[in-house]
Amino acid sequence: SKGNHAHFMRKEIFEQPLVVAQTLQSYVRAFEGEVAIPAVDFDLSQVDRVTMVACGTSFYAGMVGKYWIERFARVPVDIDVASEFRYRDPVLEKGGLALFISQSGETADTLAALRHARSEGQRIAVVVNVPTSSMAREADLLLPTRAGPEIGVASTKAFTCQLAVLAALAVNLARARGRITAEEEREIVAHLAEAPEAMARAIDHDEDIKAMAHLVAPARDVLYLGRGPDYPMALEGALKLKEISYIHAEGYAAGEMKHGPIALIDDAVPVIVLAPSGPLFDKTVSNMQEVRARGGRIILISDAEGIAAAGDGCVATIEMPAVHELIAPLVYAVPVQLLAYHVAVLKGTDVDQPRNLAKSVTVE
Ligand code: F6R
Repeated sequence: SKGNHAHFMRKEIFEQPLVVAQTLQSYVRAFEGEVAIPAVDFDLSQVDRVTMVACGTSFYAGMVGKYWIERFARVPVDIDVASEFRYRDPVLEKGGLALFISQSGETADTLAALRHARSEGQRIAVVVNVPTSSMAREADLLLPTRAGPEIGVASTKAFTCQLAVLAALAVNLARARGRITAEEEREIVAHLAEAPEAMARAIDHDEDIKAMAHLVAPARDVLYLGRGPDYPMALEGALKLKEISYIHAEGYAAGEMKHGPIALIDDAVPVIVLAPSGPLFDKTVSNMQEVRARGGRIILISDAEGIAAAGDGCVATIEMPAVHELIAPLVYAVPVQLLAYHVAVLKGTDVDQPRNLAKSVTVE
């Protein structure tokens, strides 16, 4: 049931602190300050390349995972959408690790990609929400998300649980390959453990975000900008908005703006900027100024420090708690989900069952 929520999507957004905590419990030994993925019959320290494959929102989770695995474990990650992976005849060295990410575990393209990877001698790891699904059954290394059943067609809680698992996997690989010390691992685990609480604080902005939905609802086009792990979050924000509100939206790497999309900017195009303070903040802000100089109307999502530094001149700001860069994507998922939700409600679309979409895409 939807409880006291008007839609399943809203209920599922609000459940995230709980289900992310539940998911983390399976992967983090908080007391020891260690992550622990299930045992496998191959040596994780020997993994020297990861091939990731997924579709849609699960693909964006994978993009964030790539940043983390490369950053912490220094293992190169290749990532593809499933429908491209299968037909480009990817180079897969025997014994490589292929990782598939899926809420349903039944997405036809992802499943076919998994079988292709197996036939090429890859070890198969699966991050999946439905434990009885085809992908779960075909995995060598099963990494479940514990989001519970997701009813809204637009994926929300499954996505943030995927991020939690990928963060744990990145840290586990880093340890296996001797890339982090026990002390560093303890620190990272402590940050991960703070994610549910920080997400709850992001959800506390529901009313503010609802109030600013009218800035976006009349638009024909909307741009989302981010850098680093917040670039896939920009892509995810744009996907959420287009799926449920039917407004055309694009996510862009902030630094790519000047290579084309900036030509779209005028005062009718809201630009949502995701910029937690940190090493990439100033770069993103300078891209934001370029947008503003061309009349762009900016909604800045940042923390108090970021808003104090760059909030002037924005049409609206959404203040997130200040968090470690590792957990920023989990936290910044919340405002983009809520913004899409409130815009869709304003437009009167069918939020839980958007037109032309199915919860599980079992045809190629
Ligand atoms: C977006 C959405 C889709 C799915 C995609 C993959 O909100 O729901 O983009 O993420 O169809 O589905 P799964 O994760 O079940 O493989």
